[in-house]
Amino acid sequence: MGLFSKDIKTMDDLFVHTLEDIYYAEKRIVGALPEMIGKATSPQLRSAFEAHLGETRNQVRRLEQVFQMQGKSPKSVTCPAIDGIIDEANDVASEVADKTVLDAALIAAAQAVEHYEVSRYGSLIAWAKALGRNDCAQLLHQTLEEEKAADEKLTSIAESGVNRRAA
Ligand SMILES: [Fe+2]
Ligand SMILES: [Fe+2]
Repeated sequence: MGLFSKDIKTMDDLFVHTLEDIYYAEKRIVGALPEMIGKATSPQLRSAFEAHLGETRNQVRRLEQVFQMQGKSPKSVTCPAIDGIIDEANDVASEVADKTVLDAALIAAAQAVEHYEVSRYGSLIAWAKALGRNDCAQLLHQTLEEEKAADEKLTSIAESGVNRRAA
């Protein structure tokens, strides 16, 4: 089902479609983070990725709860956006020789992921509220806060020395 296919008729359909999209994305992130942990040199960066892996696993479960609240079983729909961000990250990482430059590249890739997630959860929360589902909005909001915090943590790790050491 493409985003503009005729299967999406109502806001409710759009909400569920986007849940399926972010469900796919979160599961891809759970698969990608261990590799990023393995590549990171900075201990600070590695532990930030490890912490966010735990959070991301929990975000998958939180989405399953939202599906249930909608009377749907959890389903994924391919999200070409997250596939592109992760593929690009892998391509860039394989091109970087210097370890500290690699850390800077990993941070940039991870921040692209977080920004994607922030935009998706922002829309989902607005739509849940419009649909009168404040219960779903509240759960999704917990994830949004974690994504924003992960993004800020990455900024502070970059500013605390990763970028300078790489320069
Ligand atoms: Fe996430
Ligand atoms: Fe995230």
